[in-house]
Amino acid sequence: HDEWINVGSVADVDEDDTHSVEVDGKRVCLYKLGGEIYATDGTCTHGEADLSLGMVVNSCLIECPLHEGTFDIRTGRAVDAPCTEPLHCYPVKVEQGVIYLRPV
Ligand code: FES
Repeated sequence: HDEWINVGSVADVDEDDTHSVEVDGKRVCLYKLGGEIYATDGTCTHGEADLSLGMVVNSCLIECPLHEGTFDIRTGRAVDAPCTEPLHCYPVKVEQGVIYLRPV
């Protein structure tokens, strides 16, 4: 997959909040931090939890709703236990208010 996929409007993503979308049948979570859009896999690497039901904490971490482990939204790095496996991050770009994601 080399193409960019339209995953919706920037206006659908609130600052320091999560927004769940589906890309090629996969759950992806979008975030807006300091006005910048980020995208990670929507499922925790520790279990089957939907990260879009979690909370953005410290302005850059997503806290899993199931066991409260955290990941850095910008890099996918597992920060707090029990998360140890990094979270996959997707390249995103914004053009005229539309978010495009590369499903790599
Ligand atoms: Fe996410 Fe356990 S499923 S921390």
